[in-house]
Amino acid sequence: MTQATAPSTLEFTVSRRPDVLPDAEREAILANPGFGKKFTDHMILATWTPGEGWHDGKVTAYGPISLDPSAAVLHYAQEIFEGMKAYRHADGSIWTFRPEANAARFARSARRLALPELPEADFLASLTALVEVDQAWVPSGEAGEASLYLRPFMFASEAFLGVRPAAQVTYCVIASPAGAYFSGGVKPVSIWLSTDYTRAAPGGTGAAKCGGNYAASLAAQVEASAHGCDQVAFLDAVEHRWVEELGGMNLYFVRRDGSIVTPELTGTILEGVTRASILELAKDLGHSVQERRISIEEWREGVASGDITEVFACGTAAVVTPVGRLAWEGGELSVNGGETGSTTLAIRQALLDLQYGRAEDTRGWLTRLV
Ligand code: COI
Repeated sequence: MTQATAPSTLEFTVSRRPDVLPDAEREAILANPGFGKKFTDHMILATWTPGEGWHDGKVTAYGPISLDPSAAVLHYAQEIFEGMKAYRHADGSIWTFRPEANAARFARSARRLALPELPEADFLASLTALVEVDQAWVPSGEAGEASLYLRPFMFASEAFLGVRPAAQVTYCVIASPAGAYFSGGVKPVSIWLSTDYTRAAPGGTGAAKCGGNYAASLAAQVEASAHGCDQVAFLDAVEHRWVEELGGMNLYFVRRDGSIVTPELTGTILEGVTRASILELAKDLGHSVQERRISIEEWREGVASGDITEVFACGTAAVVTPVGRLAWEGGELSVNGGETGSTTLAIRQALLDLQYGRAEDTRGWLTRLV
């Protein structure tokens, strides 16, 4: 039994803050939440030490965490995180999507970053405990894709400067009401192809969801913005040829014959839960799906020849987002005339219908939180 599948060890005591945001102010935020800008009234905290294991689980007031300046995470980035959402269904109940998959990935990330694994039961219990207390923060799902974004994370909080796994680790979950990840809503995004930077090398941390991967993507993202693009795409670090992923999303390619292709998992790509779900949902919609290597030439030539008709990105935050343009040093091409394609829209709709309880959950992917 790995630690992740071990039985729950944490109890979450609840200290409700007396000064929660007034209803009218909260409702004003929920009416136009943006992404990752506002946070709910509470958060989860728990601590791990080798002697006590996971302990001191609590729901407490959202606020700054006091950290020693020598806390290991500030120096060596021993940190991992997850991204999930809580969805309000039409009857008012609140659900989350495939939390076991996130718990399992959190455990894999923990192993890669030499952090302690959090048992799946504790991971799930922490989500339920926070959403129970802050349930008024879960927006109504009727307005587009509004949800409560959940951000579980874990970091080395031991105060020391030696390079070794920390002997004190903090687990935290914060929650943020979310609308569309891209401010324009469902409208095609533009992608800058990074040729100077790579995101992950074989044997590195590419498959782990750790802050360091995202930190390493920022210079490339700045380059993308400087070229007027919304997001950056990375190629593999060995041949600089194989399409990997965007700064925070996986990629899919729709072909003229209706088949769809996504880069295979090679250990350097994030094992996206949305990516994995689309593999199955696309089959339900009649598409044949391939996970295989796809080269940058295939992308460019496929779009030029009409063999690739649509490209889309996916992730918990971005859901399914069409790609309308690919630009690189010295060239660019538009995908599907810069418009959102019908297959992209159908897959997006199938996923959202499931998450918001409008379609039957035949695979048992939804877990009720409240
Ligand atoms: C998510 O999609 O949840 C992520 O963690 C990616 C991040 C860029 C927002």
